[in-house]
Amino acid sequence: MKAAIYPGSFDPVTYGHLDIIKRASKIFDELTVSVLNNKTKTPLFSVEERVKMLEEATKDMPNVVVDSFSGLLIDYAREKDIHVAIRGLRAFTDFEYELQIAQTNRKFSGGDLDTMFLTTSLEYAYLSSSTVKEFASFDGDISQCVPEFVAKLIYEKYRHLRQA
Ligand code: PNS
Repeated sequence: MKAAIYPGSFDPVTYGHLDIIKRASKIFDELTVSVLNNKTKTPLFSVEERVKMLEEATKDMPNVVVDSFSGLLIDYAREKDIHVAIRGLRAFTDFEYELQIAQTNRKFSGGDLDTMFLTTSLEYAYLSSSTVKEFASFDGDISQCVPEFVAKLIYEKYRHLRQA
């Protein structure tokens, strides 16, 4: 069985991520989308909330599994016996950072974990979770960036934060 992991922060999932998930799920028999539990970042959504959003957004994709992980991707991949990581490339500016991580992962996994890049569809090339959050925090229209239920959750989150 051909399996791959699509790791990321997914804070929150965007149409850009979903485009990569859809395409990667057609290439692999099973795709595990895994949310990094990164203790050094302060995310807008908890890991549990991000996992739930991904589950809802991918519910019509039967070979997509949603999970979370802490620590190194190479250790997580080894535990799962998965040897391919998927990453999306939006622009040239992503490339240097992604290349470095991909090479580090390959080197320190002893060649066990390769990274496969999918170029983001052009209509989503501008999209990032950070810009979506910034836009939504000022009540900007993010309907073209994330599914409707995700947009609602983002606005709700900022409403709560403003009231706190
Ligand atoms: O969505 P992001 O934040 O760009 O995803 C980055 C991610 C989660 C793929 C990357 O930070 C990661 O794999 N982190 C886990 C720790 C690790 O293995 N780092 C790579 C070697 S430096």
